[in-house]
Amino acid sequence: MRRLVAETRLAPADLVLPAFVREGAAEPVPIASMPGVVQHSLDTLRRAAAEAAELGLGGIMLFGVPLVRDATGSQATDPAGILNVATRAVREEVGDALVVQTDLCLDEFTDHGHCGVLDDRGMVDNDATLERYREMALAQAEAGSEILGLSGMMDGQVAAVRDALDAEGRTDTAVVAYSAKYASAFYGPFRDAVESTLQGDRRSYQLDPGNRREGLREALIDIAEGADAVMVKPAGSYLDVLADVAAASEVPVWAYQVSGEYAMIEAAAAHGWIDRDRAVAESVLAIKRAGADAVLTYWAAELAARIRRGEA
Ligand code: PBG
Repeated sequence: MRRLVAETRLAPADLVLPAFVREGAAEPVPIASMPGVVQHSLDTLRRAAAEAAELGLGGIMLFGVPLVRDATGSQATDPAGILNVATRAVREEVGDALVVQTDLCLDEFTDHGHCGVLDDRGMVDNDATLERYREMALAQAEAGSEILGLSGMMDGQVAAVRDALDAEGRTDTAVVAYSAKYASAFYGPFRDAVESTLQGDRRSYQLDPGNRREGLREALIDIAEGADAVMVKPAGSYLDVLADVAAASEVPVWAYQVSGEYAMIEAAAAHGWIDRDRAVAESVLAIKRAGADAVLTYWAAELAARIRRGEA
């Protein structure tokens, strides 16, 4: 009876796996603050993608960890840069069995760790960054990315990237906008994962955690600029924003259960303070209940396997 009247269900196809790939790694490198998550080698990334396809996941979102960083993030647009190389490798591995997506942001590639290029006062230069995003979009589309994840929070980024793609005939490459991306403490472990060198913080371009209306406003702007899906991030602490966006959006709404959300549950479970498996499933179910059509979660593969066994 409970199953019959359930309002929300988890399905593998609604889950997207974020995955890190480290340039030059021969073996996967564990991430201390995210137990169970690694920086992949190209080889193990391919295997993880193949497994994700077999499990029926909706997609995989790739993040690169380059060895060399500079002021403009030149590795982001170099076809030989790690993210572009990895994208080609994963597409070759999975073909159309899994949607291959890429993080479109400069922070992994810049030596100052900001999501854009800086002006001479050391502030992020919004419009100069848009030019880099246009180039990055073309490099990622060329490498085979099917959905570009615009996570940099620059104003006008969706319109700029859409225009660059269309001008090159890349009308089939989709864009998911990280519309309501808050300046959050919950990204902490991610910065370990990509070995971020961030100086300062991202409050000049990410949203204030206290602002609910502004999250919806950002999503509506991105939809008007041509976003194919909009995202709320982090997820668990922003379910009100997620519900607002879901009620108003004409495009799919995604949510990103971020590194800190993952780390908190894993850490509590490691102490025996929480029933790990139930907490993992409940945390993702709650995000869907609030209105997410798809959820990016580091537990995507594990959860999909459990769903298929009838255990989640
Ligand atoms: C930016 C980006 C970040 C995350 C995803 N894309 C970091 C940031 O904005 O500081 C965080 C994801 C997570 O914490 O799991 N490239």
